[in-house]
Amino acid sequence: MAALTTTTGAPHAAILGVGAYRPVRLVPNSDVVDAIDSSDEWIQQRSGIKTRRWAGPEESVQMMSVAASRLAIERAGLEPGQIDCVVVATVSHLLQTPAVATAIAHELGTDAAAFDISAACSGFCHGVALASDIVRAGSARYVLVVGVERLTDILDLTDRGTAFIFADGAGAAVVGASDTPGIGPVVWGSDGEQFDLIRQREDWRDVVGTPDAPGSGVMPHLTMQGNPVFRWASFAMAKIGQQALDAAGITLDELDVFVPHQANMRIIDAMARSMKLPSTVKIARDVADQGNTSAASVPLALDRMIAEGDAKSGDTALLIAFGAGLSYAAQVVTVP
Ligand code: UT7
Repeated sequence: MAALTTTTGAPHAAILGVGAYRPVRLVPNSDVVDAIDSSDEWIQQRSGIKTRRWAGPEESVQMMSVAASRLAIERAGLEPGQIDCVVVATVSHLLQTPAVATAIAHELGTDAAAFDISAACSGFCHGVALASDIVRAGSARYVLVVGVERLTDILDLTDRGTAFIFADGAGAAVVGASDTPGIGPVVWGSDGEQFDLIRQREDWRDVVGTPDAPGSGVMPHLTMQGNPVFRWASFAMAKIGQQALDAAGITLDELDVFVPHQANMRIIDAMARSMKLPSTVKIARDVADQGNTSAASVPLALDRMIAEGDAKSGDTALLIAFGAGLSYAAQVVTVP
């Protein structure tokens, strides 16, 4: 048997820069309540959402991703041509093939390896885990991880369970080599028994149908059984957050920033309580005016905390995301 040559990469990886793109249109609760027989008061009480951002016709998955990525690359002190791998986490790029990652790489000006991953709301944290391993294995030097969603394309605006929650946007991070560990071990997993809790109602065959049994002809919209997901997220995810801290050897006293998936303010509060986070830990609360942007929510929230001075360079941050699948991923990172 011939011996193969293999690669070894950097001893450690870190996030070198973060960027975000938020759609221009801000949509208050008053604009969504009529179609779902709801109220501003109910939405704020149950989810903490006051407004959300919905993309306009020009704000495509690709456009938002490129805008967020340019900022992340610039803040990492790099040129787009230096990016040699692009990982895009999304569930709302509406072509099953090819991946939107190749178009994003091309528009940025790199012929990097480029592919999409599908892990719904936890996609960005999955992407950061992959990027860290890719850099440490030597398969690429600089990996761009994008979390992007244009969920309004797959939202049924008359569905009481989803129309007020989901939103659009993009966040990006560049991962590269570091002298010290900047990305802790990932703690990730899934619970496929709960596959149906958040899913598209139909697949494309149901939409198209057959000559004998015509399909619905309607876009396969996103559906969610919110309450069981709420209970799972509020209790099970705090344990995963603690495991990610333990895996990185970080105590609660050493934690500066908590960036959970921005699904619902009550889940964020329940997790913080259950993890007994000290009052000194700064908590991301971007959901209040951005809504739930699935794969984009963690990088959007982190970018905002950096911009507003709540997360400072060198701070230790816990990222955790969870959603359809059900799937989840968490890791501790150093803020760039
Ligand atoms: O991002 C991926 C992961 N997703 C999540 O983590 C989301 C998790 N789930 C949630 O955030 C919450 O479950 C929601 C905010 C979606 C819903 O809040 P809830 O406290 O779980 O409400 P519920 O579904 O238990 O409904 C409570 C009541 C029901 O009425 P009754 O039976 O108590 O009379 C519903 O019919 O509220 C009613 N309701 C509504 N009322 C006004 C349900 N949806 C609405 C609505 N407006 N949109």
